[in-house]
Amino acid sequence: MTPALKLERRIVVISVAFVLVLFGLAAMAINLFHVGLPTCLTDIKPFQKGELITHSPTHFEVHYVARMWEFDPEEVVLPVGSTIDVYVSTPDVTHGLILLGTNLNLMAVPGVVNYARLKFNHPRTYQLLCHEYCGTGHERMAASLRVVDLATFAARKAAPTPPQPADAMVKLLEAKDCMTCHSIDGSEGIGPTLKGIYGRKTKLTNGSTIVADDVYLREAIVDPSARVVAGFDDVMPKPELTEEEVSALVEYLENLK
Ligand code: CUA
Repeated sequence: MTPALKLERRIVVISVAFVLVLFGLAAMAINLFHVGLPTCLTDIKPFQKGELITHSPTHFEVHYVARMWEFDPEEVVLPVGSTIDVYVSTPDVTHGLILLGTNLNLMAVPGVVNYARLKFNHPRTYQLLCHEYCGTGHERMAASLRVVDLATFAARKAAPTPPQPADAMVKLLEAKDCMTCHSIDGSEGIGPTLKGIYGRKTKLTNGSTIVADDVYLREAIVDPSARVVAGFDDVMPKPELTEEEVSALVEYLENLK
């Protein structure tokens, strides 16, 4: 046997022995010392809705849904001294969840629920951010977690904040992710602003110019690729809307001066 072959055989024997010892140690740790295998699995199934669950006056559980491009719930308020179990799930792509000023740093991975426990000893407002690039709205992905003193927390519970009289149509636009690309304040985004869209003289990619009437608006909602506004890409997906929602949106746009 040549020296090179000998050396090779020795390396193989040592490597195999090393792997066997490693497995032996792992088996020993599991059986003798009951060391659990590290895993990110929890007994919670991936969820679609954010939630704050109160286990006791000092123990809470929050389910964060990270989705393009928001956290649900957007705001969590907790009393000082509380312990919180954080679970995070995502229905779309990988996001990162970091709570600035704490050591909470979790990945939100589709199909997986990640978990961490935190305790808050001082009143403070924390910012929750996404720190994994997840698309065009990534930098807007933020939420807040407020730790308040006991009196404030009790007062808040006694008088829950009344629901904001938010415009139902704005809510619909947000729910259908329209606001990711279209503003209602006049600023241009990935798509044209919706402010003043009704009756606007609009140049199309096919070279023609039209006045955006209710027929065009309806078509632009249900079949976005049919006639695309010049200067914008044909990237809008067909939104899932009921006939009533489409009619209500067209009416809303007619009045959005
Ligand atoms: Cu979600 Cu970045």
